[in-house]
Amino acid sequence: MTKRLVILVSGRGSNLQSILAACRSGQIPDTQVVAVISNRPAAGALELAVLAGIPALTVDHRDYGARVDFDAALQRRIDDYAPDVVALAGFMRQLTPAFVQHYEGRMLNVHPSLLPAFPGLHTHARALEQGVLWHGASVHFVTSALDAGPAIIQAAVAVLPEDDEQSLAARVLDAEHRIYPQALAWLLAGRVAYAAGRAQWRDPPETAMREAIAPSLEM
Ligand code: GRF
Repeated sequence: MTKRLVILVSGRGSNLQSILAACRSGQIPDTQVVAVISNRPAAGALELAVLAGIPALTVDHRDYGARVDFDAALQRRIDDYAPDVVALAGFMRQLTPAFVQHYEGRMLNVHPSLLPAFPGLHTHARALEQGVLWHGASVHFVTSALDAGPAIIQAAVAVLPEDDEQSLAARVLDAEHRIYPQALAWLLAGRVAYAAGRAQWRDPPETAMREAIAPSLEM
């Protein structure tokens, strides 16, 4: 039975692109992206969806006064597509507890840091400012606390002496594009589930759950 994936976006859609490629290649097996929904009508990700022949919708948060009203409208549109899993891919809205609860255990997010370090915004600038030697990306179950759900996979990205925010962000984004499809493949295959606030592995991957991606240090 083909699994149904709805992807929520706000920006250019590079994570959407890597997920679509993984569905096409079979890295995410037996899965179809059935809709792409954005809160921003101008999101480049919507064009990517249209080009891929996938229903591309906007639920514009500016049309709603209260956050709960936007979330309720978004939930109705998502559920029109009866998803098995919802993937937040560059989706820049904080979601209300009722919405999160409705999708508990079947909604993931990708965050550009090694959570619990650097939840929230501007993670690369903060990592550089704090002088950390390792940064990275996390894919986690979405819970009502921002960027705090249990991780399914993480990628470590070394901070290089010559890094600035742009160079570091680029390598973290590459890591996101590798780990998000892997996390979705594991969740959709039922190898991991959300239970009692944790990621419970029914069939843990042979490799460590954390994927350390050492940079190619060409000197
Ligand atoms: C990514 O860095 C992701 O971590 C953050 O949004 C950024 C843009 O994502 N949540 P995309 O290129 O729109 O997928």
